[in-house]
Amino acid sequence: MVIENIGILAGIVPEGVLRKEGAAQGETGLLENAWLRIKDGRIAAFGPMSTLPCSDSEESLDADGGLVMPGFCDSHTHVVYAGSRDGEFLDKINGLSYEEIAARGGGILNSSDLLHRTSEEDLFHQSIVRVKEMMDKGTVAMEIKSGYGLNPADELKMLRVIRRIGQTVPATVRSTFLGAHAVGRGYTHEQYVQTVINLIPQAAEWADFVDVFCDEGFFTVEDTARILEAARGLLVPKIHANELAVSGGVQVGVQYGALSVDHLERTTDAEIEALKGSITMPTMLPGSSFFLGLPYGRAKDYIKAGLGVALASDYNPGSSPSGDMRFVMAQGCIKMRLTPVEAFNAVTLNSAYAMGLSGELGSVTVGKKASLILTRPGWDLTKIAYQYQTPFIQQVIL
Ligand code: NIG
Ligand code: FE
Repeated sequence: MVIENIGILAGIVPEGVLRKEGAAQGETGLLENAWLRIKDGRIAAFGPMSTLPCSDSEESLDADGGLVMPGFCDSHTHVVYAGSRDGEFLDKINGLSYEEIAARGGGILNSSDLLHRTSEEDLFHQSIVRVKEMMDKGTVAMEIKSGYGLNPADELKMLRVIRRIGQTVPATVRSTFLGAHAVGRGYTHEQYVQTVINLIPQAAEWADFVDVFCDEGFFTVEDTARILEAARGLLVPKIHANELAVSGGVQVGVQYGALSVDHLERTTDAEIEALKGSITMPTMLPGSSFFLGLPYGRAKDYIKAGLGVALASDYNPGSSPSGDMRFVMAQGCIKMRLTPVEAFNAVTLNSAYAMGLSGELGSVTVGKKASLILTRPGWDLTKIAYQYQTPFIQQVIL
């Protein structure tokens, strides 16, 4: 199939570029008035309209001047959850902090109780509604975490549901074992850390990554190191770090070869230094800053230091009840002062990298999966972030 009359083809990146760092984060390949050929679900070729080889036998799609870009890659979500936490919304409005809500038995433990009472079948059906909502909004690849099970049976139930979602939808799904999200009910802290460690070999049959909520009041750097040590060779780390406090999570993540360290609402220059020269993608989640009223991550400083930055939604019932990656991109610009192209790279190539998928997704590159967004006529990357609530999608191609 050929897409013709593309107003702007955006996100063209040479083969082999797996992430954009430093000044390169502010650059992307653009081609005006273009065509793009899809063969066997992959990008086969593209070029300016003046070079379109004519073929009567090939199916064509008229883009009508719309922009074509790689679909959003959402490298950090918790979309598999049961029920809702809208009951805590009022507490939050009335001024309770995330930590205070959690300390009252709300928060993650509330979701874990709900999940325990929800059948696997029901959990799948509740979750896939959110996954489809994300796909309608242009997300073509997503990472989904466990972490509301908090005991072996329920954690494995979540991981099975995540796998089933990946087998059901055309979007690419990566799976993360986040047993260490909070201490499960009925365990002491130490018993629970040991339970997570013991579960790793089984979790590794279902998941790609291991995550730890390394933050004040949750898991320490020492807990994190023990868990990552046990996961060595089985699961690649992706760490929740520095959301509630400067936690040391970035440094321990880098030390264990984490593919990403995520949140980073609270970081000092030491975290930026620790990330230099590493394989780890600093990933920020502006949706949680927005919802919880936390500081926004220092994305611009990371880029100035020569690093790349990814942005993801963190879609979850407690700190970011939205999987809208276009809104994430807009907040990257409005609140974190990224340029539209920096934010665009953060929600496409760099977030694909943070899931180990940037060889397959995240840019317009011959050979990559043709998982694309076709916009309505007249859109460009700046407008997508600037006019952030006007419907812009004509079609999501998966
Ligand atoms: O990324 N911070 C830890 N975990 C999630 C929130 C989970 C929840 O509150 O349900 C996050 O923000
Ligand atoms: Fe999270």
